[in-house]
Amino acid sequence: MITKRIEEFQISTATHQQIQILFASCFPEYPKDRTYFKQVPTFRYLVWESEQLIGHLGVDHRMIRVGNQSVSIMGIVDLCIDPAFQSKKIASNLIQKLNELAQQHQIDFLVLVTADHNYYRKHGFQLVQNICRWLIINNHQMLGIGHRRIEESLMVKAIGDKKWNDGMIDFLGHIF
Ligand SMILES: CC(C)(COP(=O)(O)OP(=O)(O)OC[C@H]1O[C@@H](n2cnc3c(N)ncnc32)[C@H](O)[C@@H]1OP(=O)(O)O)[C@@H](O)C(=O)NCCC(=O)NCCS
Repeated sequence: MITKRIEEFQISTATHQQIQILFASCFPEYPKDRTYFKQVPTFRYLVWESEQLIGHLGVDHRMIRVGNQSVSIMGIVDLCIDPAFQSKKIASNLIQKLNELAQQHQIDFLVLVTADHNYYRKHGFQLVQNICRWLIINNHQMLGIGHRRIEESLMVKAIGDKKWNDGMIDFLGHIF
């Protein structure tokens, strides 16, 4: 099994096709014609077994504002493992790799949006209830600014010393 971290612009067409196949088996509702939902991520972790792509974790690196502080975050997108390879700690290993990378590079928080809290709680994430502002994007069009609480789905994990506060989050872009 080989795990690689690849910047988005370096990913080949053939690999994008493999990502589409993996997404189709893990996310039945995912758009069939692309490998991102709203916008391309910054980089991805990809896991291969022989020639087959079996694991994916996308990362969106950006600054956001939380209350009165600006913080550097890595947002986790589209974490998935081929069903035939699940429950072998492959996703846990990817989250651990990202955690180490974030620690090495002074990232303040990992952030993600999910309905499955329990899996991420096990990895040190906590549910937060901040009111958010974000850029609404649908099918490559900006539709405006959302402004409301994201109920029961926004999770964060502190990497450095900064404490998450309960002020308004300005995502300075879309929500991944
Ligand atoms: C969620 C997912 C990425 C986990 O990948 P994985 O490599 O199988 O995960 P790990 O092996 O590291 O951990 C597996 C453990 O997490 C548990 N688990 C898996 N999905 C879970 C969930 N949604 N909620 C709580 N626990 C979950 C498994 O039961 C297993 O528990 P065990 O170790 O006690 O047997 C994988 O199941 C998947 O791709 N699911 C479909 C896509 C998806 O839902 N992605 C998450 C989007 S936010």
